[in-house]
Amino acid sequence: MTDEKKPEDAPATKRRDFLKYGIGAGVGAVAVQGAASLRSLVPNVSYDAPTTVKLGVPDEFPDGLKFLPDERLFVFREGRTFHAISAVCTHLGCTVRAEAMPAPQQATVEGKPLRLTHNFSCPCHGSRYTGDGGNVSGPAPKPLAWYHLTVSPDDGQLVVDLAREVGHDFRLTLA
Ligand code: FES
Repeated sequence: MTDEKKPEDAPATKRRDFLKYGIGAGVGAVAVQGAASLRSLVPNVSYDAPTTVKLGVPDEFPDGLKFLPDERLFVFREGRTFHAISAVCTHLGCTVRAEAMPAPQQATVEGKPLRLTHNFSCPCHGSRYTGDGGNVSGPAPKPLAWYHLTVSPDDGQLVVDLAREVGHDFRLTLA
C-alpha cells in the first residue's frame, strides 16, 4: 500500500483545503478590519492640557510665598530668586495648607541655602511637610514636588512646567 491519494479523493481534499485556508483568511481579514475600526476611534490629535503655565510677571510676586489655586502651586520669592513647590499632597492628592513660621529660618537644602518661611499640612489625613516640602509625619509617602520655573522669552512672565519635577536645590535667579 502506498500513501498516494486515489484520484477520487482529490475533490474532497480540495474542499478541505478550501475550508481550512478560506476560514483562516476570513478570520485574518476580520481581525485586520476590526483593528482598523478600533484605530479610527482614536483621534490623531492630543487633547492633553499643556503642562507649562504662565504665572505672571516676576515683579508682581510678593517677597515670600504666593499660592496659585488654579495650579495648586506655591511660588516662593526671595529677592530675585524663585522656586515653586506643589500644593498637592503626596498621599491622596488633597491641597495642602501653608502655615507661616513664627520667624523665617535659614536652612541648607541639598547643599544650597534656602530661606524657609512656611511649613505645610494636609487637612485630609494630617500629613505634615517641612518648609522645603519634606514629608515628616502622617501618611504622605514622599515630599511635595518641586517644579521647574523659567521666564517666557515672549513677555517675561514666570512659567512653570508641571510635568518637570526638579530637585530641592533648584532656584531660578533673575538678572
Ligand atoms: S491626602 Fe493628604 S494626608 Fe491624605
